[in-house]
Amino acid sequence: MSTVIVSQDDLLRYHSLLASLEKRISAMSSELGHPLTYLVKTYGCQLNESDSEKIEGILQSIGLIEAEESAIPDFLFLNTCTIRENADIRLFGNLGAYKINKRQNRDMFIAVCGCMMKQEENVARIKKSFPYVDACFGPSDIHLIPEIIEQKLNQRKRVFSVSEEDYLVEDNFIPVKRKRKFRALVPIMYGCNNFCTYCVVPYTRGRERSRDSKEILKQLKSLAEEGYKEVMLLGQNVNSYGHDRPDEISFAELLERTAQIPGFSRIRFMTSHPKDISEEVIRTMQKYPNIERHLHLPMQSGSSRVLKRMNRHYDQEQYLKTALLFRECLPDATLTTDIIVGFPGETEEDFQETLNVIAKCKFDSAFTFQYSRRPGTKAAEYPDQIPQDVVTERFGRLLELQNDLTFQSNQSMVGKTEEILIEGRSATAPDVLTGRTNSSRLVNFKIPKGIQLDGKEINSDDPNFDADELEGRLCMVKILKAKPYSVEGELERFCE
Ligand code: 5AD
Ligand code: SF4
Repeated sequence: MSTVIVSQDDLLRYHSLLASLEKRISAMSSELGHPLTYLVKTYGCQLNESDSEKIEGILQSIGLIEAEESAIPDFLFLNTCTIRENADIRLFGNLGAYKINKRQNRDMFIAVCGCMMKQEENVARIKKSFPYVDACFGPSDIHLIPEIIEQKLNQRKRVFSVSEEDYLVEDNFIPVKRKRKFRALVPIMYGCNNFCTYCVVPYTRGRERSRDSKEILKQLKSLAEEGYKEVMLLGQNVNSYGHDRPDEISFAELLERTAQIPGFSRIRFMTSHPKDISEEVIRTMQKYPNIERHLHLPMQSGSSRVLKRMNRHYDQEQYLKTALLFRECLPDATLTTDIIVGFPGETEEDFQETLNVIAKCKFDSAFTFQYSRRPGTKAAEYPDQIPQDVVTERFGRLLELQNDLTFQSNQSMVGKTEEILIEGRSATAPDVLTGRTNSSRLVNFKIPKGIQLDGKEINSDDPNFDADELEGRLCMVKILKAKPYSVEGELERFCE
């Protein structure tokens, strides 16, 4: 695998290809008498979500229209994830169901992309057992989509185009269809060099490639001018931003320059690696209130012995030092983490250490995972795999402790009035809105009678009330009640 920076010339060719495809799709639509449609289904992490926004941007720029979630589209893209086993099982299960769709619409185009495609056995399985899949490509091949579609339309042959190379394409050249009107996902780097022994990402997403900070900041300025309130700087390990470019600024500097751009109310970043996060990053967070009061710092295990076998390059003491420094510098902020239970060789004592560190850090919430043996990773070869019943039992104890801490953290919010960025209607009730605090806590809230917005009273009981119209607005909400994974409140006033 080698890194290839996609040049301006390549991108000019790419844009002329987009233009010719647009003409072609328009002619096909006229012939059929209706517009051609697409759907992109996304599995996995925020980087995959960001990739899907680019896939959608490309598809819309050639004239395809997004289909209803339940409809059968003309172009279907499945953006896969392989971090844990259940993601693979889900994809192959779903693929079986699309066979019927393809029978109903022989011209339907089905593409599978994302991390799973970087594992040869998955591509081989698709080649052999899913003949109705038209194309496969990898996570860094998104800029090749126009070529792939054209090849398929011209030759009517299946296209397997998973590149050996890790491409770096500056975002500014790829059209993006942002899913949320208030949130911009902005990758600052791709890939990962860490080779944690349980993780497939370095194999699927290749080596670390940082984007040019000038290009990132240019993009961020225009996103702020377009009115995005929230920006999320993305990378597998944002704290090693720039390490692959000798003249680049550090992540702390990039964060600071982002915070100085007028317009963003919430600057988020994901994910931080405990071995690389610098005190400077924490101090920058302290200095700028528009940087989210939240740090996601995956711990994985509290046992130094297990951390060593995971190849994490920090021990329990170093983790605690960073976590407690963060708590001290930003006492109102939230600290969240990822934990893996049942890593090969994890003893009861190791697991107890994990529980101890969790209790010390008092994580406000945590993503908890049972270890999943991923083919091709070093840990998959470790002889001391843990029996499933032991993993399940430990996982139960971990959840019990963390659920308790999450609930306590939510309870500490009751009585406070917080600034909330509205994300839309809650899934549970049409008159309940959902949003996040500046420390990334989920808040569900109602609008009481008498609240004014733009000179008009809002009535959430009105059948014409459209909660989605309030998406992206900032408001003050009084927190009234703690729930296990969220808090409930009541809107006091809109901020703008
Ligand atoms: N098994 C279980 N969890 C895993 N993660 C990554 N690889 C595995 C695996 N093989 C978890 C880690 C990581 C998060 C994104 O997914 O906790 O931080
Ligand atoms: Fe995977 Fe470790 Fe890289 Fe995170 S830092 S993506 S866990 S290899």
